[in-house]
Amino acid sequence: MHVWRILTLILGVSLMTLAGCGATPAEPELPPGTLSSTPPPLGDAEQGRELFVNTLALTGSPNCISCHVVEAGEIEVVGPALVGLASLASQRDPNLTAEEYLYRSLVVPNEYIVSGYNAGIMPRTYGLYLSREQIGDLLAYMLTLD
Ligand code: HEC
Repeated sequence: MHVWRILTLILGVSLMTLAGCGATPAEPELPPGTLSSTPPPLGDAEQGRELFVNTLALTGSPNCISCHVVEAGEIEVVGPALVGLASLASQRDPNLTAEEYLYRSLVVPNEYIVSGYNAGIMPRTYGLYLSREQIGDLLAYMLTLD
């Protein structure tokens, strides 16, 4: 009885660790053709903030906050700090609006690699596990990061 509890605890923790670092070998790619090229309508920024810090609990995908800081002066972790993102997003690609850039960064993160960072680190599963509504909430939240 006791042993089982410990074993399931260890299994749970290791699964969460794997999910947390995002680069599990079995990580599915986005199935071709299922990705809408248009971003969903902007949703609720407050819900998006919740999703950003609690992604794993709410969706089963790794927490954004585990790799990205959002406050000026915080020390960067794995990915770029998202301070100033609202204005940066409109300048990254002249062919994309801020919403389109942020949407694509989220669902096809290897398409545009922020200079100084590596491809293949950010999970490519968000487009599979987040609903269009959740993505709309995250986009609204990211547009508040100035
Ligand atoms: C395992 C670490 C990791 C996680 C988790 C992660 N990211 Fe990232 N992210 C990165 C890295 C590394 C980059 C830079 C490389 C690139 O451009 O793909 C990046 C780039 C980005 C960019 C582009 C930033 C810019 O300055 O242009 C956005 C936007 C972004 N991530 C949003 C998110 C959101 C939202 C989530 C959660 C749903 C998330 N990330 C989860 C590692 C991560």
